[in-house]
Amino acid sequence: MIGTANGTRIGITGLGCHVPDRVLTNDELSTLVETTDEWIVERTGIRERRIAAEDEALTDIALPAAREALADAGIEPHEIDLLVCATVTPDMMFPTSSALLADELGMPDAAAYDLLAGCTGFVYAIAQAYGMLASGVSRRALVVGGDVLSKILDWHDRSTLILFGDGAGAVVMEPVQRGGFLGFELGADGGGGEHLWLPGSGSRRFDAPDGLVKMNGREVFKFATRVMVSSAEAVLATCGRTIDEVDVYVPHQANVRIIDHAARKLGVPQEKVVVNVDRYGNTSSGSIPLALADARDDGRLRDGQLVLMTGMGAGLTWGSALIEWTHDGNGVLR
Ligand SMILES: CC(C)(COP(=O)(O)OP(=O)(O)OC[C@H]1O[C@@H](n2cnc3c(N)ncnc32)[C@H](O)[C@@H]1OP(=O)(O)O)[C@@H](O)C(=O)NCCC(=O)NCCS
Repeated sequence: MIGTANGTRIGITGLGCHVPDRVLTNDELSTLVETTDEWIVERTGIRERRIAAEDEALTDIALPAAREALADAGIEPHEIDLLVCATVTPDMMFPTSSALLADELGMPDAAAYDLLAGCTGFVYAIAQAYGMLASGVSRRALVVGGDVLSKILDWHDRSTLILFGDGAGAVVMEPVQRGGFLGFELGADGGGGEHLWLPGSGSRRFDAPDGLVKMNGREVFKFATRVMVSSAEAVLATCGRTIDEVDVYVPHQANVRIIDHAARKLGVPQEKVVVNVDRYGNTSSGSIPLALADARDDGRLRDGQLVLMTGMGAGLTWGSALIEWTHDGNGVLR
């Protein structure tokens, strides 16, 4: 799916994020599986990640992120009429985490549903919310992206254990006077699904499933380096923009080598690339909003800037969104 955002101007007017307190370093990991800090840093760029406590579930880390996004936008929870939560690690299959969040936050009028698109979930979710808002079906949306992948990792498998961390982010989306989303490109290839999968997690029968993530790292790496470039190029071309016009590039934080490869191929200079995979690892649906929050906090995400987000993940899925940032409070239509 690819298209320009021709409906009502819709922007991001509030942003929040949250990670668990517990920091897990590479050195600590090397006491659990056969690996070293040196290997992990060289192959992935990851130095540490956050891990949820035993009694902490997705909504526990998503709630503070959602509250921060609402406060940042300066709106009350009851003003939200759509809540989409992108995650592959909901508290449980049902009730959905979005319904639980809407209840905790106090959003009695909100439609609420979870969205599954692997690590691309957040990009899919903002595209969906855009459609609801631009068509006038929804007035104001809260989009949450977050995962607690530590709960479904095989803590004996060094190939996956080193990569992932827990975290969540949230954005408020609503009509704006200027800027806003310019276009989206989304795709999926179920044929490659078994390169990153969770067999036994649904209605398909598997013999003795352990309920833990399985991954073919090399295949996912090849896929990632391809789609991170092709998806970004496609959305830019469709929106009639060039890579030189992009001020802030927010790639999915999976591996610094994948990010460097995509930036090099696209021709994005390092100073425009947001990287925090060293501190958080791959937080799946939390990755892009966490990176957006970092860019805002270090002063790089300013009003009027062109921001390119590209994600990829299980499915296999990928997606890009192009937005002109209007987050200064003045451009909001209320
Ligand atoms: C997983 C990944 C880091 C592995 O890096 P790589 O450079 O491809 O490494 P390889 O798989 O080729 O393994 C190289 C060697 O290191 C070993 N190795 C694998 N994991 C290791 C670890 N954590 N520590 C030490 N050695 C490790 C392998 O066993 C292999 O040993 P061998 O040569 O004796 O067989 C990389 O493939 C990757 O990042 N893939 C994408 C994964 C991803 O992003 N998934 C999420 C998408 S949303």
